[in-house]
Amino acid sequence: MVTDNVDLDIDGIAGEGERAIAGARSTEALSRVETELFGKRSALTRAHRTLGGLDPEARKEAGRRLNEVRTRLEAQVAARRSELGEAERAEALRADRLDLTEVIPDRVLSPPARGHLHLVTQARTELEDVFVGMGFTVAEGPEAESDWYNFEALNMPPAHPARGMYDTMYLDLGEPETVLLRTHTSPVQIHLMEEAVHDDSLPIHVVVPGKCFRLDTPDARHLPVFNQIEGLVVDRGITFGDLAGTIQVFTEAYFGPGMQSRLRPAYFPFTEPSAEFEITCTLCMGEGCRTCSHTGWIELGGCGMVDPAVFAAVGIDADEWSGFAFGFGIDRLAQMRHEIPDMRSFLENDIRFLSQF
Ligand code: DAH
Repeated sequence: MVTDNVDLDIDGIAGEGERAIAGARSTEALSRVETELFGKRSALTRAHRTLGGLDPEARKEAGRRLNEVRTRLEAQVAARRSELGEAERAEALRADRLDLTEVIPDRVLSPPARGHLHLVTQARTELEDVFVGMGFTVAEGPEAESDWYNFEALNMPPAHPARGMYDTMYLDLGEPETVLLRTHTSPVQIHLMEEAVHDDSLPIHVVVPGKCFRLDTPDARHLPVFNQIEGLVVDRGITFGDLAGTIQVFTEAYFGPGMQSRLRPAYFPFTEPSAEFEITCTLCMGEGCRTCSHTGWIELGGCGMVDPAVFAAVGIDADEWSGFAFGFGIDRLAQMRHEIPDMRSFLENDIRFLSQF
């Protein structure tokens, strides 16, 4: 039975299908095209349904051609799917690529803020450099000392009134010997001279930086824990002129050319003669201010010629050897150079203060 109204435009169905497949721009769009091409309401399916209206010969022929078209379109869909899929995977890879320079530029370009050495540590290192440049070596000594090293060998026998200048903290270590936190770096002089005598290695040209302790009430110029740098020269024919020259060279090296210093007669049990080393107050330039107790001068330390009694205590022959010694406060040197009104700022750990230096 031939039915005229059966519309079997198989070539049209194939052509349209091919265009739709080629026109799909994504695997998702292609899936929709696939449903449209092969689904229940598709032209192909509808065409199949009309086959019943054809005579057996035509039905067979039309069925064969429809199957051919379906197979061809299915192959085209598969090919297009792998084509689109590949492009989509490439695109996804491109999009997902972890570009470190884009993702963490902050971490890479500005690493966590880095601290720096404390101002007092910087001063200590710089002072060491200045003295090493003048031919000194650098040594260190213990912070806990016996009475012998801190006082007695330095010509301060028990009950010596000069001990009153050095009130300190005593340690009870259960030992018969008196042990205390050193009040100055001068005891290292004794260690170094004893060693040099023992090793027969005189002369000595050495500086000794280190922590010291005193029962001082903190104020603008005093801390109960502070730092000194001790100097000791023991050689043949050393004079007070060598001491004065060394201190002047040091003053200009640390504070800058033209900085004024002066030596004032003073008393220390372990030097004779003794002097106090002062520089113009850098805060008021000599006018007088709170920091310099309105004198215009700041005392940075003591110095003098090594007392023969000290040489005797360590067994050095004072007829053959002479020497000078000095001891400066490192904290105070840093305070003066950077014009810091109050030394307590060093210990307050205020980042706004510390980061300035
Ligand atoms: N040790 C003294 C003090 O802390 C400072 C000092 C003075 C050290 C004279 C010296 C010196 O070496 O010769 O007050």
